[in-house]
Amino acid sequence: MFKKTALTALTAALALGLTACGGSDEGSSAASGGGGGGGDDTITLGFAQVGAESGWRTANTASIQEAAKTAGIDLQFSDAQQKQENQISAIRSFIQQRVDVIAFSPVVETGWDAVLLEAKRANIPVILTDRSVDSEDDSLYVTFLGSDFVEEGKKAGEWAVENWGSQPTFIAELQGTTGAAPAIDRQEGFADAIAGTPNLQVVASQTGDFTRSGGREVMEAMLNSHPEINAVYAHNDDMGLGAIEAIEAAGKVPGKDIQIITVDAVKDGMQALADGKINFIVECNPLLGDQLMDLAKKVVAGEEVPSRVVTEETTFTQEQAVQVLPERKY
Ligand code: AHR
Repeated sequence: MFKKTALTALTAALALGLTACGGSDEGSSAASGGGGGGGDDTITLGFAQVGAESGWRTANTASIQEAAKTAGIDLQFSDAQQKQENQISAIRSFIQQRVDVIAFSPVVETGWDAVLLEAKRANIPVILTDRSVDSEDDSLYVTFLGSDFVEEGKKAGEWAVENWGSQPTFIAELQGTTGAAPAIDRQEGFADAIAGTPNLQVVASQTGDFTRSGGREVMEAMLNSHPEINAVYAHNDDMGLGAIEAIEAAGKVPGKDIQIITVDAVKDGMQALADGKINFIVECNPLLGDQLMDLAKKVVAGEEVPSRVVTEETTFTQEQAVQVLPERKY
């Protein structure tokens, strides 16, 4: 097996801002090379994260870093700052370092085949976490661990049908990052669920990039162009929280004048739900770290793993949020 020199690995790591976290090996770092070059049994996992766009993402990163530490896995972590080209560069660097296994949460669904083929040719297995890729070649990755985003959108839509469907409802949809699996799938699941309910109309739909500031800006513009809006479906809590700021600034009462559904159920979102400013939240669980480390160990050991591992999730009403908030982990 071809191994890059430590100097090459260090240069690549420094250029990409990769950081080593976790691992039982005190001296492990990008400079010490990947597990393939480490000469001991420590597994090196290269993880290319989307960024730090939301409370969900922060909790997901913490879960992965803590789980790596507990599992004794040397984690090479890269933050792509929501840019696909950064994730591709990070994956290429992991290949150069000869890590044992690569995991990543793709910023967008398409455009991964070339770099995943490079990993396959280098015999480095790839695990998709949180988000999947849109590729005809499913031999490019071993497994996909994460939520069913279409199902999440469907749950949001079913609640809308039940709670808003009997009166004219003009919905503002705040989409996640354009081209990202959760944005595409949550839109699809919601649209399918409300399709047979003529009272429910999505009058505006735009991306807020999964960020609080994006949600606020888009909501401000939508309230100006569509004063009839009386409901919001936000693809994540952060955009919903941004929308709350815009709604309040416009002199309206979130949760009453304009009812809100979001996805995620992170602490800030759950607090707003308990406070009556959000009306319903569909959970998306970010605590994938332990399952990811387990899969990584099995994949490196050559054990069979399921090609799809779906995260278990629930939904929350305002009353349920009040009950579970004190115990909420993220
Ligand atoms: O891919 C999961 C989504 O990404 C979360 O719902 C959102 O908050 C995050 O940014």
